[in-house]
Parts: sequence; C-alpha cells; structure tokens
Amino acid sequence: MSLYRNAVWFLSGIHQYTRNGYEAASKDFEPQDLSVSVVGRSFMITGANSGIGRATAMTIAKKGGTVHMVCRNKDKAEEAREDIVNQSGNTEVHVHVVDLSETHKVWEFAEAFKKQHPSLNVLINNAGCMVHKRELNADGLEKNFATNTMGVYILTQTLIPLLQKSRDPRVITVSSGGMLVQKLRVDDLQSEKGHFDGVMVYAQNKRQQVVLTEQWAKANPIIHFSVMHPGWADTPAVSTSMPQFHHMMGERLRSVEQGADTVVWLALSRAAARTRSGQFFQDRRPVAAHLPLAWTRSSAEEVQSFMSQLETLAFSVVQPQPDGELNGPSRPQFV
Ligand SMILES: NC(=O)c1ccc[n+]([C@@H]2O[C@H](COP(=O)([O-])OP(=O)(O)OC[C@H]3O[C@@H](n4cnc5c(N)ncnc54)[C@H](OP(=O)(O)O)[C@@H]3O)[C@@H](O)[C@H]2O)c1
Repeated sequence: MSLYRNAVWFLSGIHQYTRNGYEAASKDFEPQDLSVSVVGRSFMITGANSGIGRATAMTIAKKGGTVHMVCRNKDKAEEAREDIVNQSGNTEVHVHVVDLSETHKVWEFAEAFKKQHPSLNVLINNAGCMVHKRELNADGLEKNFATNTMGVYILTQTLIPLLQKSRDPRVITVSSGGMLVQKLRVDDLQSEKGHFDGVMVYAQNKRQQVVLTEQWAKANPIIHFSVMHPGWADTPAVSTSMPQFHHMMGERLRSVEQGADTVVWLALSRAAARTRSGQFFQDRRPVAAHLPLAWTRSSAEEVQSFMSQLETLAFSVVQPQPDGELNGPSRPQFV
C-alpha cells in the first residue's frame, strides 16, 4: 500500500508541485484577489526568517500589515526583519525569539503575547522541520512532533481566544503534500515504534496538521482555518533535509514566492475567507486531503483519540504545581 501511495503521490507531484505545475495553475488565478490593503491587521508568522515564511512576511509587510515574526535564531530573524523593513518601508515588523520545538516555551510565549496584544487577525503556522534522528526536547517529546505538531497545537490553542476577539480571524498551517502518503497513526504519535524514518515522521506530522485543522474548524466557527501544500519550492529546508531530492529536482523546483503564493492568498484575500473552513489547499484551490484508494482516512474514534492525546500531552507539559497552581502565568485555554 505505501508503495502505491508513494508512486501515485510522486507522479501527481511531478505534474502539479513543480514550477511548471504552478505556472499552469496560476493561469486560473484572479489577480485582483491580492489587491488588498491590510493596514491595521496583524499577522503572526512562524519561521518568518527564511523561505516561504519570509516571502509571506515580505508580501504582507508591503501591503501594510503588522507582522510578528516568530523565529528561533535572533541574528537570522533580525537580518530578515531589516530586509523586510527596507524593502517594504513598513516598520511594523516585530521579532519574537521562540524555539517552537521547546513546548513549554511556546506556551509561555503565546500566553504573554495574548496579554500584551489587543488583537491578532491571522496566525500562520509555517515553521517546520525534518530531523532524521530520534531526539527528545526538554519536555521529553520527539523533536519533529514537538515542532510540527505540538508547537502548532499549543500556539494555536492558546491564541484562539485572542483571534476570536479580532476581526476576520484566520489560521493558516503550512503542511505538505507529503502527508498524502500517511494515515494518522494514533497508536504512535511520537514515532517510538519500528524504524525511525525522518521523511515519514515529517509526513505523519503533516497529516496530523491536516486533521487538527479539520477539528479546529468544527470547534471554532468564528475563525477561518485552512491548511495547505506550497508545492516543491527551493528553500533551505529542502536543500538541507532532502539534498538528493533537491539535486534531482533542480530547476523544476518552485521559487519561494511561488511556494508562498497560496499562504498569502489564504491570509489576505476575501475569496479565501468565503471558502469553507477546515480545508486543504493547493494553488489557491481546496483539494482532496486523501489520494484515491489510499486508505488514509481515519475513523471518528481515531480522530478523537488523537485530539485527546494531544490535549493530555499539552497539559502534562504545563504541569500543575503541588499547591494546585499551574507552572506559568495562567491556565492555558487548550479546549
Ligand atoms: N519548500 C518546500 O518544498 C516545502 C514543501 C512542503 C512543505 N513545506 C513546508 O513549508 C514550511 C516552510 O519551510 P521552507 O520550505 O520555507 O523552509 P525554510 O526556508 O528552511 O524555513 C523553515 C523555517 O522554519 C523555521 N524553524 C524550523 N524549526 C524551528 C523551530 N524549532 N523553532 C522556530 N522556527 C523553526 C526555520 O528557522 P531557521 O532558519 O532558524 O532554521 C525557518 O525559518 C515548513 O513547514 C515546511 O515543512 C515546504
């Protein structure tokens, strides 16, 4: 089955996920969709110092939005900020240094942000990683899972009350078409069983993001949730985590701007807000989150189990103290 899924996925990828795929799809784009000003709206973008996140931050800054860049490396983030401010002329670009693989710190950051800012219109969960060796973070969580799933879960859950208070709130999560080869594995969320294959662990995390988005959309009707595949874009993540793939694809890879296009469209356009919440997008269109005949759909019980495991893990990181107080400024609003 996984051989079938991989073959179908790769063949459709060669047609759709490449630069040619983008150019073909973009013939149907409505150019006026992005003719908007977002002055007065605020956008949080994780991993905004590089690749797709940086290109997204640049476009939003040029359109007048307030940008909160959430990055783990201060120097890289400040360099990117300076470039964005210089090119856009917009000084409302702010850096927050947070390592999204450090679960407890993600929660502390989100709690503090919620207190310090009156509103947040759009959260873009873009940062992602593919670590090829099984490593644990300070909270004992596997690092790919901690960054790609738990970081996204805690950041989003904690910021939902702030987003709900804001006008036209949206949450966009940058997943990957690679998730199409994976069925949610509720009995092994942190890849403890069998051989550890970083590419498949990453793809499993990206499937988890799609399921999360579907569940968030059901639970939070005020917020517009979407999850997307950027296509195969030439970024440091691809060249460092998948060097052979990067070499093989060469000029066929999309530019970072092409990879960022649908993120930007989902974040800015009125057309995106009119689509049903909770869907998976590619090139400005909702597309199927499952390959035909791939048996990747989960039962309601599996999805429920996944959501309750995430919630339990999140609470276990934000431990109650012996006196009954939580180990932080206030009780997180995960549900
Ligand atoms: N490029 C593609 O073809 C492709 C395809 C499918 C999906 N995606 C997804 O697109 C998203 C953006 O990736 P990209 O391709 O633009 O790669 P990129 O240029 O390497 O950007 C990844 C960003 O995530 C940040 N990041 C990684 N781990 C982090 C952590 N623990 N805490 C905070 N930030 C962290 C990186 O920070 P540093 O700069 O400090 O490393 C960087 O800013 C990812 O979610 C990726 O999975 C990309």
